[in-house]
Amino acid sequence: MAGRIPQHFIDDLLARTDIVDIVDALVPLKKKGANYSACCPFHNEKTPSFTVSQDKQFYHCFGCGANGSAIGFLMEFSHLDFVEAIEELASLAGVDVVREGGQQSAEPKKQLTPLYELNALIGDYFQQQLRKPESSIAVNYLKKRGLSGRVAKTFQIGHVPAGWSHVLDAFGESAEQRTMLKELGLIVSNENNKTYDRFRERIIFPIRNKKGQTIGFGGRVLGQGEPKYLNSPETPLYHKGREVYGLYEALQTSNKIERLLLVEGYLDVVALHEKGMTNVVAALGTAITKEQLELLFRSAMELVVCMDGDSAGQKAAWRAVVNAMPILRSGRQIKVLLLPEGEDPDSLVRSEGLEKFQDRVLGASPLSSYFFDELSKTHMLTTMEGRASFMEQAKPLVDSIPDGAFSVMMKQQLATLTNMALSHVTAGSSVKQPVKKQPLRQTKKAPSVIRFIITSLLHEPSLAKKINNEEAWLQIDIPGMPVLRKLIDTLLTSPSLTTAMLLERFRDDEFEKVIRSLFQEEKLISLELSSAEVDDAIKRLKAQAQEHRLNILIEKSRVSSLSQEERKELTDLYKLDD
Ligand code: UTP
Ligand code: MN
Repeated sequence: MAGRIPQHFIDDLLARTDIVDIVDALVPLKKKGANYSACCPFHNEKTPSFTVSQDKQFYHCFGCGANGSAIGFLMEFSHLDFVEAIEELASLAGVDVVREGGQQSAEPKKQLTPLYELNALIGDYFQQQLRKPESSIAVNYLKKRGLSGRVAKTFQIGHVPAGWSHVLDAFGESAEQRTMLKELGLIVSNENNKTYDRFRERIIFPIRNKKGQTIGFGGRVLGQGEPKYLNSPETPLYHKGREVYGLYEALQTSNKIERLLLVEGYLDVVALHEKGMTNVVAALGTAITKEQLELLFRSAMELVVCMDGDSAGQKAAWRAVVNAMPILRSGRQIKVLLLPEGEDPDSLVRSEGLEKFQDRVLGASPLSSYFFDELSKTHMLTTMEGRASFMEQAKPLVDSIPDGAFSVMMKQQLATLTNMALSHVTAGSSVKQPVKKQPLRQTKKAPSVIRFIITSLLHEPSLAKKINNEEAWLQIDIPGMPVLRKLIDTLLTSPSLTTAMLLERFRDDEFEKVIRSLFQEEKLISLELSSAEVDDAIKRLKAQAQEHRLNILIEKSRVSSLSQEERKELTDLYKLDD
């Protein structure tokens, strides 16, 4: 297993990288004052509000709020995951990605390349086979399913005729090659140590990752037969819960897809492409995972989960929705389209045509109605007991939606449906995330002193020197203090961090959300920070924290007696007050 990428490597990489080059290569920038600007690639606009700061090495859009480091930009713009973005930057900088556990650093890459290459060759081989006379039965089958040569080519559809050793004979000459074929799941050995091809007499659907590399295969019997599909097992290249079928092909048709349709079958994807709907992908199996949803949301803001109307399909849709709720950051939408029982997209588009099918997609139920409709099928809203169990099931799920307007509206709707006060629905909803409990966001109207300080530190990390983290007031738990403490700790341990590095330090951290939202305090992005203003803010925060502590001690002294230490603390605080 590859180790984690160490933090120092990410810092170094960001230090070697110029975000202006990275962005400019993908979105041409114009110099504007100290910064660079362009029309924002993340939302539609006519006048540029997207800026890139060379100084601070981050980008920010004043229109839609998108922001981040060079890593974040590649993740958002090129739809890469974190590790892929690091790999991309490393290759641009001409360095190898270092992994924890040292030595084995670049090793995984070295091992995988031959596997990718072999898989690609075998994919070509299957595709070539389809053109041979002995495969005419497969071509006829595809034609009968309404598929053209054009779409077969787009999806690199292939065929393997009857026989036990086509792949084995063509690619398994040496022991080394046979080991690789086994790793790729293309050959299997039985108890008698007989080795033979996994895919025999099947139509082959190569499964490609987002980059277009062939990572696995699905094979369908021609006509009837069991199992209908045989798929690659988990291999070093293929992890079924993390990939979807058809994403590469969908992205080939357009870089910015507004909506993706997630269907069940290989043939649904291919048949819809054939008819002209190209923004379609299939889950590989029925359970749709969080990783798959993340992958899809990186390519499109709207996801329509389109499942067969049978009970398996309905269950799969519900699971997809529940898995998507925690990752519904602002702008992301999930909808559900349940098809009539016994139909799938392929059969529907053939019987009723593409237009009718497109209407169905446009009419898919938004999460808000789907979610409450589904729950009201199993919980009676007309009885108190029903409403209570409705609430019990709905609340944790609604709580999992990230904070924002949509989360508030869902809570309001839940309160209305169950006849409960909104305060009950909102109460205790953030138990798992202590950050949310702190009223940081309540003070949004007038930025508090602590918000100001945190934002200042994010934009000007060297200001951390102004705060002595030994001082007792930093330990006083007023809202926001844990965030500030962590920020100061980080900056004192690594004093040369830039804004971009700092943002990356907080990726996947419990405070990531707070840090990101404070980072965006618009005033500070454009204003020069005045050192005196920050000094003053620190003084005020210290006074606030001390007063808070003083009040707690006074309150405590009223109801119980203070310890000796507390009494001393109280006297000291009183002295400060004079
Ligand atoms: P379907 O049975 O709906 O297949 O299974 P389909 O794609 O519509 O194919 P046709 O139209 O019957 O030819 C949906 C998906 O479930 C997986 C495959 O990914 C398939 O595309 N599946 C199904 C298997 O992996 N194995 C099976 O035996 C059946
Ligand atoms: Mn089908």
